Amino acid sequence: MTYGNVKLNGNQPKRKRRKLRKSFVISASLFLITFTLLLVFLFFPTTARKLKKIGYSPEAIEIIKQDKIANTLIDGNYFSENLQSAILSKNYDLKYLDLYLIQDKTTEDDTLLYDKLIAKGYSTNELILLYSSLTFKEMTPLLVFDKVKTVDFYINDVSDHRITNNAQNFFELSGSYIEYYKETEVSVSIDRNALMVNKHYYIDENFIPNDLVTLSIQYAASDRQLQREAADALQTMCDALQSETGLRMYASSAYRSYQSQVEIYNGYVATKGQEAADLVAARPGFSEHQTGLTVDMTPVGSSMGEFGDSEQFKWMLENSYKYGWILRYPEGKTTITGYDFEAWHYRYLGVDLATKVHNSGLTYDEYYELYLK
Ligand code: DAL
Ligand code: ZN
Repeated sequence: MTYGNVKLNGNQPKRKRRKLRKSFVISASLFLITFTLLLVFLFFPTTARKLKKIGYSPEAIEIIKQDKIANTLIDGNYFSENLQSAILSKNYDLKYLDLYLIQDKTTEDDTLLYDKLIAKGYSTNELILLYSSLTFKEMTPLLVFDKVKTVDFYINDVSDHRITNNAQNFFELSGSYIEYYKETEVSVSIDRNALMVNKHYYIDENFIPNDLVTLSIQYAASDRQLQREAADALQTMCDALQSETGLRMYASSAYRSYQSQVEIYNGYVATKGQEAADLVAARPGFSEHQTGLTVDMTPVGSSMGEFGDSEQFKWMLENSYKYGWILRYPEGKTTITGYDFEAWHYRYLGVDLATKVHNSGLTYDEYYELYLK
């Protein structure tokens, strides 16, 4: 029995030891597993943790994962508040990544301009330089110009010629960026009022608007004609000027046939030479006057050349777009329009388009290339 007891008592610690060993193995394994997981977690963070580390918010991370762009953003370490806002808006495209990273805010106008400049042959590196140095309005002239050879030259030209006036920023380029009349194309009518005519887009020699009407002598020199809608809008505008200010103005020139433009242009060439003539008169086929949508205004009691110094001009700057007319060759924009400042020359676009062009602050040449072409 004693022996038996001893035997019995001897078995107990052995079992206990085995039990102890077993629980030690379990605890050690659990510890090892936890430790390994911790290591993995620390040294191989999840996608979400990586995105968080770069700067993304939980909401942005959700979208990034859904859109499967996490690897691109993580690999390039791409983050900016602007990029995050674009992602959160769910209205973004990574082809504009450079813009999201350079700019504080990227608008639809910025991306539209970007696409147009790419189509014109600018490289992404050139665009990075442009967008980091210039404002939107400082880049839009590039749409009208031939592709510039060195964007640095253009950037310096803009930055050397910035003028801040009444909190508005202007710039007047000194370089020349277009070889006018070189690669011309016939203008295609998107809508009859929007027809673009400049030193690049021309109208056919035989083009005569089919609804010309003769303007009343109250609003124009004798026998001046315009397309009917433009004629009505001119009268409304002249009446508004008179009722608001007591002043009067009239169209000293309106529709001009191809042949009359031949005579006008040749007259300038004969007296000034071709280079100077090209700054004040359009070559035949390239004049807006042939559209029947254009007038040269003269203050009653003064001359057309004095229009820029008149009260009528000040009123026109503020109001002409409300009647569908825009100043076509503004001051300081010769490099873009190809013409000296013409305070008297107005183009009818219709109220809707004229208002948009006016609000854009762009010349019609730039506006057309950006939004209508
Ligand atoms: N003076 C303008 C440019 C024209 O000849 O049409
Ligand atoms: Zn004119």
